[in-house]
Amino acid sequence: MSKLFSKQIKYISLMILVLGTFIIISNSNYHIPGNQEGYQPDQPIKFSHQLHAGDLQVSCIYCHYGAEKSRHAGIPAMSICMNCHKYVTASSDKVNLEELAAKEEKRKIKPVYSPEILKIYSALALDKQLKETGDVKKPVEWIKIHNLPDHVFFSHKAHNLAGVNCGDCHGQIETMDKIKQVADLSMGWCLKCHRKSAVENSSAPGRTKLLLNCSTCHY
Ligand code: HEC
Ligand code: HEC
Ligand code: HEC
Ligand code: HEC
Ligand code: HEC
Repeated sequence: MSKLFSKQIKYISLMILVLGTFIIISNSNYHIPGNQEGYQPDQPIKFSHQLHAGDLQVSCIYCHYGAEKSRHAGIPAMSICMNCHKYVTASSDKVNLEELAAKEEKRKIKPVYSPEILKIYSALALDKQLKETGDVKKPVEWIKIHNLPDHVFFSHKAHNLAGVNCGDCHGQIETMDKIKQVADLSMGWCLKCHRKSAVENSSAPGRTKLLLNCSTCHY
C-alpha cells in the first residue's frame, strides 16, 4: 500500500468518525443536565438579588468581579458578604421591631440575628460575636445554574469588553428574589446574537467571520 493511499484512508476514516458523531449528537436530545431554560433551584442561603442588586443597588461587578477580567464571572467568597454582614446581622424590619419592643419594655436592645446571615458566619467558622469557633471553614455549596458543556468556549471578559450587558443574557437579575435561567444557552441562541452583532459590525469583515466560526466557540 502506498504511503499516500494509507494517508487518505486515515483522513477518510477520521472524517467519517467526526461526521458520525456530529449526526448522532445532533439527532439525539443531547443536553447537559442543568443547562435548561427556567432552571431555578433553591440555594443553601436565601440570598436575594432583588434585595442586594435591586433595592441596595450593589453593582454586579462588586461581587462578580471575574466578569471583567476572566472567562468566569465567579461566585463571591463569604469574605465579600462580610464587608457588610459584619455589621448587618438581620433585616432592618426585624431590628426596628426589636428596638420598639425594647423601648416599650424599657430594656436594653438585644442584638437580632437572621438565621440566614448566621449561615455566612458558620461557613467562616465564626460565632455570633465573630470569634473563631475552631471548627473547619466550609465553603457554601451554591448550586450552579448556568452550565455550558465542556466543548464550548465562552468568556465573560470578551462580552464585557464588547459592551454586552449582563441583562442581555441573564435577564433582569436585579428583580429576581431567586435566580432563574432565562435563556436556553443553546448554540442557536449564541448564533442569533452573533449574527446580529456581525451585521452591525459589518465594517469589520474579519470579525464577522470570526463570530460565526466553529472554532471561536469550540475547542
Ligand atoms: C452581594 C453580592 C452579589 C451581587 C451584588 C450580585 N450577585 Fe449575582 N450572585 C451572588 C451569589 C452569592 C450567587 C449564588 C447564589 C444565587 O444563585 O443566588 C449569585 C449568582 C448569580 C448568577 C447565577 C450563577 C449560576 O450559578 O449560574 C447570575 C447569572 C448572577 N448572579 C448575576 C448577577 C447580576 C447580573 C448582578 C447585577 C444585576 C448580580 N449578580 C449581583 C452574589 C451577588
Ligand atoms: C453573552 C452572554 C452573557 C453575558 C453578557 C453575561 N453572561 Fe454570565 N453567563 C453566561 C453563560 C453562557 C454562562 C455559563 C458559563 C459556563 O457554564 O461556562 C454564564 C455564567 C455566569 C455566572 C456563573 C458563574 C460563572 O462564572 O460561570 C455568573 C455569576 C454570571 N454569569 C454573571 C454575569 C454577570 C454579573 C454579567 C455582567 C457583568 C454576565 N454574567 C454577563 C452568559 C453571559
Ligand atoms: C453592600 C452591603 C452588602 C453585601 C456586600 C451583602 N449584603 Fe446581604 N444584606 C445587606 C443588607 C443591608 C441587608 C438587610 C436589608 C434589609 O434591611 O432588609 C442584607 C440582607 C441579607 C439577607 C436577608 C436576611 C434576612 O433574614 O432577611 C441575606 C440572607 C443576605 N443579606 C446574604 C448575603 C450574602 C450571602 C452576601 C454575600 C454573597 C451578602 N448578603 C452581601 C447588605 C449586604
Ligand atoms: C447578546 C449577544 C450575544 C450573545 C447571546 C452571545 N454573544 Fe458571544 N459575543 C457577542 C459580541 C458583541 C462579541 C464581540 C464581538 C466583537 O468583538 O466584534 C462576542 C464575542 C464572543 C467571543 C469572542 C470572540 C473573540 O475571540 O474575540 C466568543 C468566544 C463568544 N462570543 C462566544 C459566545 C458563546 C459560546 C455564546 C453562547 C453561549 C455567546 N457568545 C452568546 C455577543 C453575544
Ligand atoms: C457562538 C458560539 C458557537 C459557534 C460559532 C458554534 N457553536 Fe456549536 N455549540 C455552541 C453551544 C453553546 C453549544 C451547546 C448547546 C447545548 O448544550 O444545548 C454547541 C453545540 C454544538 C454541538 C453539539 C450538538 C448540540 O446541538 O448540542 C456540535 C456538534 C456543534 N456545536 C458544532 C458546531 C459547528 C460545526 C459549528 C460551525 C458551523 C459551530 N458549532 C459553531 C456554540 C457555538
